[in-house]
Amino acid sequence: MSRQITESKQLNEDRYLDSTLRPYSFDEYIGQDKIKDNLRILIEAANKRKEAIDHILLSGSSGLGKTTLAHIIAKEMNSNIKITSGPAIEKIGDLASILTNLQPGDILFIDEIHRLNKTIEETLYPAMEDFVLDIIIGKGPSARTLQLELPRFTMIGATTRTGLISSPLRSRFGATYRLDFYQQPDIEKIIDRSAKILKVSIDNPEALRIIAQSARQTPRVANRLLKRVRDYSQVRGDGIINQKTSQEALKMLEIDQYGLESADRRLLEIIITKFNGGPIGLHALAASCQEETETIADVHEPYLLQLGFLDRTPRGRIATKLAYNHLGLNYPEDNLNKLL
Ligand code: ADE
Repeated sequence: MSRQITESKQLNEDRYLDSTLRPYSFDEYIGQDKIKDNLRILIEAANKRKEAIDHILLSGSSGLGKTTLAHIIAKEMNSNIKITSGPAIEKIGDLASILTNLQPGDILFIDEIHRLNKTIEETLYPAMEDFVLDIIIGKGPSARTLQLELPRFTMIGATTRTGLISSPLRSRFGATYRLDFYQQPDIEKIIDRSAKILKVSIDNPEALRIIAQSARQTPRVANRLLKRVRDYSQVRGDGIINQKTSQEALKMLEIDQYGLESADRRLLEIIITKFNGGPIGLHALAASCQEETETIADVHEPYLLQLGFLDRTPRGRIATKLAYNHLGLNYPEDNLNKLL
């Protein structure tokens, strides 16, 4: 159900896009001002003490710039960054090889850290806290524990789901920052910056506003949209992005003025028509939409909540009056009681 624009995973095209468009310093990085200020202090203090910085946990929806921030932190610390992800570390041996190959001061970035397997997570605790790795050699009564010393490294964990991080893991991070969705003016600045790097002309501020408005307040989506609108303007126009080509390209992609795609609208429609507006649990909703629970929780739900089209109650998700209005449906007054 989820398609390219909202796709939460980094696609091949993003890898290219991210490396060309990714800001490499705090000054170039637009938005998330409070996090940048806090990180600057953390880094400057550690640099003054000539120490590695504390482990950092970054949370927030996909595409908001967690990986980018990790790269910037590494650069500002003059450190190397090693990148891996929760699902990629399958065996203790994978983790041991990553950790024992680190140099003092290196940054280890673990994306989707909420998807680490439990045994691996537990092996990480002493590694994060005391910089040692306990490895069990052999099986049964003759099993022995070997303790390896590790260099002082900094771990940066990234997650889209803080709720899924166990408290022992969470407590081992010295600092936790939650990235917010971006404000419209910041998304406009990001698109403007990316357009300049990609050498694409946008002929007026209104065209920029139209693209930004549909970008789900998310830089990764903004950059993908910019490329799609550029393609459209090249084929159906003179290559310059204007108001008309922006509107037409978004219409062709079935993206509305809130950045909703058909998949988001279908999700709301199902809650409203099949479940009477809710409340409905995540798993039942996923089954009805024939969608992965994770995709709904990671991609669709956070933005629908942000827009105020969905609400969470202890008994499940409900569609709000705004959602009914957006889909052109009548909001039954008895839905008000569900909120009480
Ligand atoms: N590209 C992607 N995210 C960005 C950000 N936060 N600032 C500038 N450019 C970006």
